Amino acid sequence: MMLEVDNLHVRYGSIEALHGISFQVKEGEMVALLGANGAGKTTTLMSIMRLPPPEGPVVTEGSIRYGDTNLLPVASHTVVARHGIGLVPEGRHIFGNLTVQENLKLATYARTDTERIAWDYERVFSLFPRLADRRNQRGDTLSGGEQQMLAMGRAFMSGIRFILLDEPSMGLAPLLMQELFRVLKELNDAGTTILVVEQNAHIALKYAHRAYVLEAGRIVLEGSGAELAHNPEIRKAYLG
Ligand SMILES: Nc1ncnc2c1ncn2[C@@H]1O[C@H](COP(=O)(O)OP(=O)(O)OP(=O)(O)O)[C@@H](O)[C@H]1O
Ligand SMILES: [Mg+2]
Repeated sequence: MMLEVDNLHVRYGSIEALHGISFQVKEGEMVALLGANGAGKTTTLMSIMRLPPPEGPVVTEGSIRYGDTNLLPVASHTVVARHGIGLVPEGRHIFGNLTVQENLKLATYARTDTERIAWDYERVFSLFPRLADRRNQRGDTLSGGEQQMLAMGRAFMSGIRFILLDEPSMGLAPLLMQELFRVLKELNDAGTTILVVEQNAHIALKYAHRAYVLEAGRIVLEGSGAELAHNPEIRKAYLG
C-alpha cells in the first residue's frame, strides 16, 4: 500500500505551515524527511496521523491517500487501528512507572491477532537485546537511548505495519544512533514500511532508500539516499 501526499496545504490558525507538499512512501520502503527546525516535519507526520487541533494542523487543500483510502476524513485512532499506521513521537512517550515488559504489553491492547503477540515479543527482544536484559526495569530508569528503543518496540507491538518516526536519533550518542538505525533497517527488511523525520541527514541518508528535504513548508529536493548524500546543496546545508 502506498502513502501518497499530494499538494498538501495545512495551517495552524491563520498561519499556513505547509504550502502544498507532495511525496510518496511505497510499501516496504524506508523514506527520510529531512529539514531544519520549524521546516514542518512534525506537522507533516501529524497531518498523516490525522491529529486534530490544537496539536495537529488543519488541512485546507490537497490530499493524503493510503492505498485506496482517502485519509483526510479518517479519525486518528482509525488510522492506527484499521490502517496500521503508527507514530513514534518526538520525546518518546513511554510509561515511566511501568516496566519494559508492561510497556510492551500495554501497546498490544487493541490487537485481535493474539496468536501473533507472543511471536512479536520475541522479535522485539531479539531486535533490542538491551530491552530483553532490562525487561523488568522501570521505564523511567532507562537511558535515553533505551527509552527510544522501547518507544520503537511499543510501536512494533501495537501491530502497526507502517511506522512514522519523529527524530529518533535526537539526543543519542553516535554509536547508539547507528544501533538504532540498524534496527530500523532490520524492521524495514522484515516488511515494515518506515517514514523517518530527521535533522541528522548523515545517518538518515545512509539508511533510507529515498529522502525528501523540507524547507519552510516546501519540499525543495528529493532523491535516493545515495544521490542526496552526494548532493552539494545537502552537503553544504546538512552535512557540514
Ligand atoms: N500547534 C501549533 N500551533 C501553531 N503553530 C504551530 C503548532 N505546531 C507547529 N507550529 C508551527 O509550524 C511550523 C512547523 O513546525 P513543526 O513542528 O512541524 O517543525 P519541525 O520541522 O518538526 O521542527 P523541529 O525540527 O524543530 O521539530 C513552525 O513554524 C511552528 O512554530
Ligand atoms: Mg519536529
